[in-house]
Amino acid sequence: MNIQWYPGHMTKAKRAMQEDVKAVDLIIEIVDARAPMATRNPDIESLGQGKSRMIVMNKADLADEEASAAWARWFQSKGYTCFLMDARSRKNLKQLMASIDKACSEKRERDRKRGILNRPVRAMVAGIPNVGKSTLINTIAGKSTAKTGNKPGVTRGNQWIRLNKSVELLDTPGILWPKFEDPKVGECIAFLGSISEMITIPEELATELIRTLKERNSCSGLEERFGLEGELTPSGILDCIAEKRGCLGPGGEPNTEKAAGILMNEFRAGMLGRITLEDVPE
Ligand code: G4P
Repeated sequence: MNIQWYPGHMTKAKRAMQEDVKAVDLIIEIVDARAPMATRNPDIESLGQGKSRMIVMNKADLADEEASAAWARWFQSKGYTCFLMDARSRKNLKQLMASIDKACSEKRERDRKRGILNRPVRAMVAGIPNVGKSTLINTIAGKSTAKTGNKPGVTRGNQWIRLNKSVELLDTPGILWPKFEDPKVGECIAFLGSISEMITIPEELATELIRTLKERNSCSGLEERFGLEGELTPSGILDCIAEKRGCLGPGGEPNTEKAAGILMNEFRAGMLGRITLEDVPE
């Protein structure tokens, strides 16, 4: 499957991000913990030149715990401050704040040496669509101040949320576009729902997901949830899901498009278990 798409509004979002980034010292890059590499955007390297950087592996509640720990170690070994998060919950907020403080410590020290005291560090949240940027900003702000959902072009007024006496956060996330050079990356992002459903064929995406889960030996949740038995091909599994969920056409034939939709929704919501789609590079 080869996925390529660069909608016009992404060019606009990138321009907005280039503008906003000038006002910040720290970029909090949000990735999806289920695919921490595929959900990054290489542009952030150039955009983040000279800025402090931190990685939040969000949706950690949906990812395999051991895999997340390995990814966190890997990012840390590359010099990033890395934090595992479920952005919908306020449970880890205190630790997140401590992590943000740590990520800012060099900048604060540089300021101190230059005689700049008590100037709050300014941070922004950035990432590709659907990784949980707005949810995280809302959780941090403690109320629904940021608009959730992928809506580039929301009125931008550079509002700052004061996190504590030393850090302020821009209330508008920086939206970046994923890179598709490697077809596996495009697939991963499509599985996780970070690109429009309009450009993928539901049955094709679903069978590809089943194939991937098989390759990764991550099928037990799938088998359990849909009561699958025996050796089935990916398309056989889709037929089976259609039957089990009563998605049948007029002649009783399986409606695989509907079954594909069910499978993708349940996978994305974590109903097939905590699954990570990428391994730490060798
Ligand atoms: P974005 O700004 O990066 O585009 O993402 P957004 O915050 O809109 O989040 C996208 C979806 O992911 C939302 O679900 C949100 O609730 C969910 N989400 C965000 N962070 C987490 C997390 O850490 N864990 C889990 N399990 N889900 C998370 P939605 O179904 O699109 O919207 P909603 O019905 O929940 O509002």
